Amino acid sequence: MVANARAKTASGFTRSSSSNPGADLCPASPFFDPSERFLKQTPHLLSLSGEPSRLYRESSERKVTVRTLEQMSKEALADPEKFWGEQAGNLVWHRRWDRVLEWNPPFARWFTGGLLNASANCLDRHMGSETKNKAAIIWESESGESRTLTYFQLHRYVNKFANVLMELGVKKGDRVTIYMPMVPELAVAMLACARLGATHSVVFSGFSSQALVDRVNDALSKVVVTADGGFRKGKLIDLKKVVDKSLLSTPSVEHVVVLKRAGNEVKFGPKDTWWHEAVERAPSCCEPEMVESAHPLFILYTSGTTGKPKGVMHGTGGYLTHLYATAKWVFDFKKTDVFFCTADIGWVTGHSYMVYAPLMHGVTEVMYDGAPDYPAPDRHWAVAEKSGATVLYTTPTALRMYMKYGDAIPNSFDLSALRLLGTVGEPINPEVWMWYFKTIGKERCPVVDTWWQTETGGIMLSACTGIDFVPMKPGSATFPVPGVDAAVVDDEGKVAAPGTKGYLVVRKPWPGMLLSLWGDDEKYKKTYWSRFAGMYYPGDYALADGDGYLWLLGRADDVLKVAGHRLGTMELESAFVSHKCIAEAAVVGRSDATKGEAIIAFLVPKEGVEKSDALRKEVVEHIRTTVGPIAAPDEVYFVGKLPKTRSGKIMRRLLKSIVSGDKIGDITTLEDGAAIDEVRQAYDELKKTLR
Ligand code: WTA
Repeated sequence: MVANARAKTASGFTRSSSSNPGADLCPASPFFDPSERFLKQTPHLLSLSGEPSRLYRESSERKVTVRTLEQMSKEALADPEKFWGEQAGNLVWHRRWDRVLEWNPPFARWFTGGLLNASANCLDRHMGSETKNKAAIIWESESGESRTLTYFQLHRYVNKFANVLMELGVKKGDRVTIYMPMVPELAVAMLACARLGATHSVVFSGFSSQALVDRVNDALSKVVVTADGGFRKGKLIDLKKVVDKSLLSTPSVEHVVVLKRAGNEVKFGPKDTWWHEAVERAPSCCEPEMVESAHPLFILYTSGTTGKPKGVMHGTGGYLTHLYATAKWVFDFKKTDVFFCTADIGWVTGHSYMVYAPLMHGVTEVMYDGAPDYPAPDRHWAVAEKSGATVLYTTPTALRMYMKYGDAIPNSFDLSALRLLGTVGEPINPEVWMWYFKTIGKERCPVVDTWWQTETGGIMLSACTGIDFVPMKPGSATFPVPGVDAAVVDDEGKVAAPGTKGYLVVRKPWPGMLLSLWGDDEKYKKTYWSRFAGMYYPGDYALADGDGYLWLLGRADDVLKVAGHRLGTMELESAFVSHKCIAEAAVVGRSDATKGEAIIAFLVPKEGVEKSDALRKEVVEHIRTTVGPIAAPDEVYFVGKLPKTRSGKIMRRLLKSIVSGDKIGDITTLEDGAAIDEVRQAYDELKKTLR
C-alpha cells in the first residue's frame, strides 16, 4: 500500500490506442477536462441530484469532438447489417454466415448459416498466440486466498470438464444448471457447456431452494453443477444441501457434479459425482461442437412483473458479436489490461463482461469471491491494488457503500494502475459519480455509466472510450453505442421532447438481443414488444436532454433494484404467501441511500393468526430460505387488508407513496375502477400501522 495514488498529469490523460478510429481528430485532447473550471461547477452539479444538466459541454472552452462517434453511429444505423456484419468478422467462425439478419418481428436471428463455438472464441483462438501463457483469470477470495489460471490452463480445464459432462450424457441442446460460488470453476463449467453446444443456466448462489427448483424445472436441466459450499462474509453457505433439497422436486436431473470448495461435510447420493475425481480421469482434449449462430448459448432467469422469473434466452453468434464490439468500444480493451468486474457471474454482467467478453479479447480478468466489505470495507480496493487492475467495473450500490466509509480507506491503496472506471446496474447519483471520479480515479480516469439489461445481452448505452471522447455528464449514460437505435418516447410512442421524462425504447434489432423467453414466445412478445408497436420496451423511464444525452430515471414497472439485484415484486409476493400464515402480500420498494431500493412488505395474515414479532421473524426467515437472503425485506407490516382495484389488482403505487412519504394525491385517478372506500380504509389502517 502507498499513501498516495499517482499524481495526475497536467493535461488529464491522452488517448491510449492508436488503432482507435478518430485518434487523428483529437490527438491531444483529453476525454474530460479535469480542470479547475470543471471542478468549480461541482456544487452546481451536486445540487442536481440526478437531474440532467448542461454543465460541462457548453461551458468548456475546449471544443471536444464527438464527430467520430456520431459518424460511426450514423453509418451503423443507415446500414445496420453491413455494420454488424463487419463487427462479426472479429469472431472466429467455422463457417461464415449467409445472412447477417433474419428479422421476423419480434424475432431476430443473427448471422444465419454461420457456425461457431463460444468456448473456441474465448480460448482456442488464443492458443496460437502469446496470450496462451498469460493470466486469464486472477481469482481472489475474501479470506485472501488467490489463484491464477493462464489461458492455456483454462483451455485445458474447460476441455477436461467438457469431457466430464459428455461422459454424463450431456450433448448439444441439453440444459445444464450451474449453482456455484464465484470460483474459476464456475466459468469453466459455463465454457464447458458451450464447448458441447449445451445451454447453461446459471443460478446465483445467493438464491435458495425454491428459486433453484423453479429454474431447474423450467429449463428441464439434465445435470446440475454445484459445490459443497461457498463463503459469504466468513459464513459457510451449504450449497449442496440446497441442491439435495431441490432434487426432491426436480425430476429432470440425472446427475450432480460437486466441486470441493468449502470442505464442509456433504451427503453423497447416487446421482452425485465429485468434480475433482471426474476431472482427473477425463481426457484433456474435447473438440468444440460447432453450432449454428442462433443456437441458445444460455438461459438466464430474471425478474419481471409476473410471479415467476423469466428465462431470458441468448444465442451465440449475435450475442458474442455484441459483446466483442461493446467491450472494445466501451472499455477500449488492450492486451495489457487487467479487468476487474465486481459482478457475480450469477447475474448477466458476470456472464457477459466477466466470462465471454474479456476472454474473447484475451485480457486478464480479476474474479473476486466475497463481499465488498468483509473482513473490512476495502476489499475492492485491496484486490484492485494487488492485481494491478486497469479497468474497474462495479455498481453504484458498492460505490455508495464505500463512499460512506470515507476517502481514507481507498486513499491508503495504490490504485494508480486504473485508467478507466465503469458502473452498471442502477442509475448513479452525480455525487457518487463525482466521488468515483475524484477519489478513486484521481480525476485521471473517465467514468463510463453503462445501461443495459439481461435481455439486451450487452451494453446498449454508454460512453465509448475506445471510439471517441465525449464530454461526460455525471449521472448520464450518454449515448447509445453504435448500431443501437435507442430513443425516449411518450405514452403514445412518439419521440419525447428534450428534457421530458418518457420511456426508453429500442427501435431496431441488435445482435445481443434475447432470442426469446425460454419456452414462452407469447410472453416474450407481450412483455417486450406490445407496449409500443414495433419497438422493444425495456421498462425504464428516461429522458434525453438538449444535447441528446440520455438519463435513466428508474424502472417504470414493478421491478425492484435492490443493491443492483433485479427482483420482481410479484415474485416476492408469491414467496410471502407461500408461508402458511400469510393470506396476501404486497411488496414495494422504498428508496435507500445505499442499496438504491429497500424491500417493504405489507402482509395480511390468515384468519386467526396473531400479528406478532415472532411471526415477522418467521416470514423473513421464510423468504431467506425460499428465495434467498438478498430478498429479505427491510420492513414488514401486518395489515387487515390491502388497497386494491375492483379487479383485484394491488395498488402498489399507493403503497409506494405511503412508504416514501409522498403526497397521495387524488386516489380516484390512481387506478381505474378502484374501490375507493376500501382503499381509503386500507390506507388509514396502514398509516396507523406505520406510525
Ligand atoms: C437498470 C443489469 C440506470 C435498469 C446489467 C435496467 C440501469 C435494469 C443501468 C436491468 C444504468 C442497468 N443506469 N439503470 N447504467 N444499468 N440499469 O437485467 O432498470 O439485472 O432495466 O441487468 O437495471 O437489470 P439487469
